[in-house]
Amino acid sequence: MNGNLIIENIDEIVTPEGNCGVSGSDMQNLRRYEHYSVVVEDGKIAAITKEAAALAAFKEKGHPVLSGKGKTMTPGYVDSHTHLIFGGYRPEEFDMRLKGVAYMEIMKKGGGIANTVKMTQEATLDHLIATGAARLTKMLAMGTTTVEAKSGYGMTLETEMKQLKAVKALKRISPVTLVSTFLGAHAIPEDYQHAADFVNYLNERVLPLVKDEALAEFVDIFCEDHVFNIEDSRMHLQAAKALGFKLKLHADEIVPLGGAELAAEMGAVSADHLLHVSDEGIQSLIKANVVATLLPATAFTLREQYAPARRLIDGGCMVALATDFNPGSCFSYSMPLVIALATLQMKMTIEEVITALTLNAAAALNRAEIIGSVEVGKQADLLLHDFPSYKYIPYHVGINTVAHTIKKGVVYTNNIINRETFC
Ligand code: NIG
Ligand code: FE
Repeated sequence: MNGNLIIENIDEIVTPEGNCGVSGSDMQNLRRYEHYSVVVEDGKIAAITKEAAALAAFKEKGHPVLSGKGKTMTPGYVDSHTHLIFGGYRPEEFDMRLKGVAYMEIMKKGGGIANTVKMTQEATLDHLIATGAARLTKMLAMGTTTVEAKSGYGMTLETEMKQLKAVKALKRISPVTLVSTFLGAHAIPEDYQHAADFVNYLNERVLPLVKDEALAEFVDIFCEDHVFNIEDSRMHLQAAKALGFKLKLHADEIVPLGGAELAAEMGAVSADHLLHVSDEGIQSLIKANVVATLLPATAFTLREQYAPARRLIDGGCMVALATDFNPGSCFSYSMPLVIALATLQMKMTIEEVITALTLNAAAALNRAEIIGSVEVGKQADLLLHDFPSYKYIPYHVGINTVAHTIKKGVVYTNNIINRETFC
């Protein structure tokens, strides 16, 4: 659905600019407008103006008007890394981890991803669609207007396809834009002794079908010690690239394996996690223009060190932020949490965080030309925060500041209009 809309006299608009992601110190540069109005026609930004005559002409067309008084506008958030679709839950594992058992220990004993695989195999397609839709509604309320969703809890062809079909159905019914990623190489099924054999199976039997049915745009792999090593990962990514998929990697999350270097070598769009990325890894990401997607809510949940955001940005990398929402290592799709962790724990400035959650996250999904900034011609995916300056966003620690999420010009109002500003 594409809407027409005038958002009048907005206290402050802040946005990165351009049609591609921005790197290093440029992440700090946001354009700032005071007391401008934004006009949306047919779901796209038609004007950003202060001129009364121009605005009057648009008003004559009868577009609905929303007041921007006391509000800050930013681009909609892009959650470029999630495992949105899965069956069941794993609260017992969370409890074990609270008591000190490591994530990888649980996985080695047959728990972890394998647990969710079983529950996803048992879940019906309708159930996966319904739970996905409920999550997307809550994400939209926290300002997320585009979500990447990975498969990876199937292990069998049938269940992987079921997950991807759930994403396809959600593309039709949810206002949130979805981008699908095939993550068949997420764990090694019990009946395979060698990861390479499973990779061969995926390359020969599964990837061509996913391509034929246009069920995914990206292919991702869990490149990690005890999962898929560099060689296995290269083999899988080469096959995916040859079929025309764009690439992503879960890279250097638990040990420094060289996933970032592989992402650069393969021309991946993004390398994600990067808690243990090496200096060489950072240099190769920069040279190959790979987006470094950081997922602080996972590090927080696993009580691990955070990815070196400052080293990455100060070195000149293009950094994005995402939630990594999944049933194991991070049951959170909260953008307010990501913002709090990125600013307070990873020492990113709020300007860098806004860039990382909007234009650079759009670049991580190959969509920086259409979303990620408040600019004429871009899709009108916009947020109206309930305070007069963007400085209020990180100041609200873990609190949602989004009063209205605007998706392609259609307004979704949250029930949080803040009375403090009117007292
Ligand atoms: O991104 N690292 C691998 N995959 C997920 C966790 C999946 C799970 O535990 O279910 C992640 O952290
Ligand atoms: Fe992940």
